[in-house]
Amino acid sequence: MEKVEPRDFIVDDRENGTFRVNRRAFADPEILETERREIFDRTWLYAAHVSEINTPGSFLTRKVGGRPVIVTSDALGKPHVFLNSCPHRGNLVCLEKSGSARALTCFYHAWSFDLSGKLLGVPDAEAYTPAFKREEMGLRPVPRMENYRGMIFVSYDPDIVNLESYLGDAREYLDYMIDFGGEEVEIVQGAQAYSMKANWKLLVENSMDGYHALSTHQRYFRQYLPDIGMDPAAWVGANRTMGRGVNLGGGHAMVESPQRPTPLTGSAKAELDAIRARLVEKHGPDRAHRIADYTRNLFIFPNLILISLWHTVRTFYPLRPDYMEIDAWALFPKNDSQQLRQKRMDNFLSFLGPGGFATPDDVSGLEGCQRGFATMRELPWSDISRGMGREEPSSQDELQMRAFWRRWNALIQGKRGPTDCADRPERRLAAE
Ligand code: FES
Repeated sequence: MEKVEPRDFIVDDRENGTFRVNRRAFADPEILETERREIFDRTWLYAAHVSEINTPGSFLTRKVGGRPVIVTSDALGKPHVFLNSCPHRGNLVCLEKSGSARALTCFYHAWSFDLSGKLLGVPDAEAYTPAFKREEMGLRPVPRMENYRGMIFVSYDPDIVNLESYLGDAREYLDYMIDFGGEEVEIVQGAQAYSMKANWKLLVENSMDGYHALSTHQRYFRQYLPDIGMDPAAWVGANRTMGRGVNLGGGHAMVESPQRPTPLTGSAKAELDAIRARLVEKHGPDRAHRIADYTRNLFIFPNLILISLWHTVRTFYPLRPDYMEIDAWALFPKNDSQQLRQKRMDNFLSFLGPGGFATPDDVSGLEGCQRGFATMRELPWSDISRGMGREEPSSQDELQMRAFWRRWNALIQGKRGPTDCADRPERRLAAE
């Protein structure tokens, strides 16, 4: 097969409305190496929510950007993120998923560390020379960590811009995702952890793809929604006619549609109405309207998606070009009644995740695409041009995916500056 240069992975003809992605981008191990180096090692990555380590001495472990990390709350309640590798000889210091402790002890030679990372104990320490500096042998923090309204992000690039600048226009919509309950939010205990035999960028596309919803998720729309008293036509109609796809710059993007009527009745509905009133009181009617009356799938480049209909926070990372691991959590208001919490959880579990109506369908679709890429010599291009000629692309179009791909394409070529992720050249010129 002929060599394909990174610049050849995208055909982006904005004048004529053609956008194609070379399928090699989904299957080439060299591209994955480039993505690790130029994207995952140089962007902000979501790691955890402060509510998961909400008492001094609590900790959790997970993988972020391909590295094992430990997220802790130290004795003063300050959050930290450390690489989960012992400064002695490399063992994973913490093997537990989560817990609470005064110290973390590496089982290999029993070095111990407090939750601010400081080295506490070294068995038989007298064997070391004066050149052994205890203060340099603590747990190694990630190069950068910032907390945006409870969401802890890390970066392996010490020189990256601050998180708020990185989020840019996506920040406003991230605020809406956090403010929807009118009060503090928390990650509900437990997580959905699963994998797919598919390239990670297929899940980026799928996570903000309104076009596939009705055809792929027929059981949900045609059976489940009527079963719970909802009208699928109203649901899908609003999405089709009034939803929009939005480029938020920096590779961030979103699909947004008017909020569907809630199927809840009785006291759960009254509680939702009270939350709505609180939002108006706190933020004023305009902002409350923007927070409460739309559903959004918000994508933060490169691998975080927040889905407001189910209050899902999802992140994913590729282990191979054709295999990724996915983690997802529910982000709910802290002080909901037990009844409303249960309703939100039923809703959360009904659609996304391994036991939901949607995710198994999506797994079939994405793994099917990956298997289909075996034909890439004869069929080298995927088309992502839907809605390219429209003044305002809808949520059924693909502007939001093109925004991701334009940033991806710039970064894998080592272009670190701003990327123009928009569709329309005339607007770019007018703005200049
Ligand atoms: Fe951790 Fe030796 S590798 S104490």
